[in-house]
Amino acid sequence: PRLYHVQHPILLDRITRLRDRSTDQRLFIHFLEEAAFILAVEATRDLALRPIPVITPLEEAEGAVLAEPVALVPILRAGLGMLRPFRTLLPHATVSFVGAFRNEETLQPSVYLDRITGITPETCVLLLDPMLATGGTARAVFTLLRERGATRLRLACCVASPEGIRSVQEAHPDVVIYTGAVDRGLDQQGFILPGLGDAGDRQFG
Ligand code: PRP
Repeated sequence: PRLYHVQHPILLDRITRLRDRSTDQRLFIHFLEEAAFILAVEATRDLALRPIPVITPLEEAEGAVLAEPVALVPILRAGLGMLRPFRTLLPHATVSFVGAFRNEETLQPSVYLDRITGITPETCVLLLDPMLATGGTARAVFTLLRERGATRLRLACCVASPEGIRSVQEAHPDVVIYTGAVDRGLDQQGFILPGLGDAGDRQFG
């Protein structure tokens, strides 16, 4: 499938706390990292391994190590809050930074920072953004990544709208989406309902 609704009790707990408007900045940052950790586990479940022998204190055994290059692409600002847990699990991944914000009236994304490095057709590229709303931002960044040679594209998000999922799947049918929740829809301003508000503002003010 191209859409994984990640089901894990700890993830649902943390997303509930992220939704809660009484969660302050410090806790929002904390719960977002914990939610992203579980998304990182699920979004890497099928990464290829290379068998290698390993010598334990007692004997030689068959082991395996990660065999494929991975690139992490947090979308600034909000995606920055998901970066650390992904790097904890994937310390050798390259990190490409892309900054994008939506025009509040048109909802069109504009990319204001593009620091994409170290991506080849073989690289497993993981886009990190807590929210998939209209899908405009993710679509634009996937297009940019393809121009730089990416072919294997994934998105990890906490909360997605059905509209956003549809829009990404239409423009990029091969992209695999990992989300912690599929919400009801969008309001006039393009906010996810019930959503969690603005994940950029709630982390960075
Ligand atoms: C939010 C969010 C996504 C985007 C999703 O960022 O983090 O990047 O909106 O919306 P879309 O699917 O309709 O494009 P925002 O533009 O608020 O910028 P910020 O992260 O700097 O706050």
